[in-house]
Amino acid sequence: MQVPFLNLRLHHEPIRDELRAAIEAVIDASAFAGGSYVEKFEREFATFCDAKHTCAVGNGTDALWFALLALGVGPGDEVVTVPGTFMATAEAISYCGAKPVFVDIDEETYTMDPALLERAITPRTKAIIPVQLFGQTADMDPILEIARRHKLPVVEDACQAHGAEYKGRQAGTLGDAGAFSFYPGKNLGALGEAGAAVTNRPELKQKMDTLRDHGQARKYHHSMIGWNGRMDGIQGAALSIKLKRLADGNERRRQHAAHYTELLSGLDEIILPTTAIGRTHVFHIYAIRAPKRDELMRALTAQGIGCGIHYPVPVHLQEAYRSLGLGRGSFPVAERCADEFVSLPMFPELTPEQVEYVAGTVRAWVEKSLVTA
Ligand SMILES: Cc1ncc(COP(=O)(O)O)c(C=O)c1O
Repeated sequence: MQVPFLNLRLHHEPIRDELRAAIEAVIDASAFAGGSYVEKFEREFATFCDAKHTCAVGNGTDALWFALLALGVGPGDEVVTVPGTFMATAEAISYCGAKPVFVDIDEETYTMDPALLERAITPRTKAIIPVQLFGQTADMDPILEIARRHKLPVVEDACQAHGAEYKGRQAGTLGDAGAFSFYPGKNLGALGEAGAAVTNRPELKQKMDTLRDHGQARKYHHSMIGWNGRMDGIQGAALSIKLKRLADGNERRRQHAAHYTELLSGLDEIILPTTAIGRTHVFHIYAIRAPKRDELMRALTAQGIGCGIHYPVPVHLQEAYRSLGLGRGSFPVAERCADEFVSLPMFPELTPEQVEYVAGTVRAWVEKSLVTA
């Protein structure tokens, strides 16, 4: 049996005709850069998130960047985030001329450890970015309470958490703004690059709209230096179609995750993902932790199973951030996780048989490595 890590072709099969028709409609309307299809998607995504506004942009990194700029983050400032994330979270901070300051993640959810947040805050801190990693939010109440006490805005990196919930509230709407990526492999993916920021604050929406459009609120009148960051019309039209299937896709991901967890439980050598009380996980990634991770990955690959590592090097140890001077040992939990994570196949169209095959292969590897240990 072959089990790919992700199968986008299968995902698009049932909506192929609808997508083709939408692309043709965008061509007929010449609504290529921003325009009516993007505005329609902005309204629909705001409704889905239960947010007042969406600012649709070219990718999730721009969404983070514009949110920070709209909040006034600039050179000399510090923004607190986690090292256990995709590089883009820190890049967006650097684009503002600010410095990323890291706090470690917690062992259970792999998101920002609120107990470590306060000591990372300095007089230069201008914002906090919790990352809703793998499809689960951080413990937002204590993070928001600390932010309020220090009068700091919170931008959620919800790029992996479309539809995730924290105590009944949607990821992306818990702080001042939330950034989403619609990279094709995400739970809500475009047919290319796309992203969005959501907010309940009208002045942030207005600033982000201006920033994504060369700093012009009125055509050819530029009040600030902005960027070419609009969403493509074709992406807006495709995302409207795919948004209708997001809740169902998330539900199927949760079912596959529960199935994996049931089949893999009881193995002391590997650590399974957990969902914290009060949170709804959307399993963008189902990552287990295994001590001899590379060996396990070789065994999976040999059996025709796609797997990945999200992410092998924590951000503070990346070559690009060497100037921060943060060596190994700075953030032990993020470092340990980066050494042990293996992401198993996860997409809505997986079959129960495929989940059983993957879990059976992991089990067989664990049992064999116990015998040879
Ligand atoms: C946690 C996280 N932040 C930010 C991004 C950046 O999004 P994009 O690739 O759309 O720029 C991603 C996407 O991979 C992500 O997973």
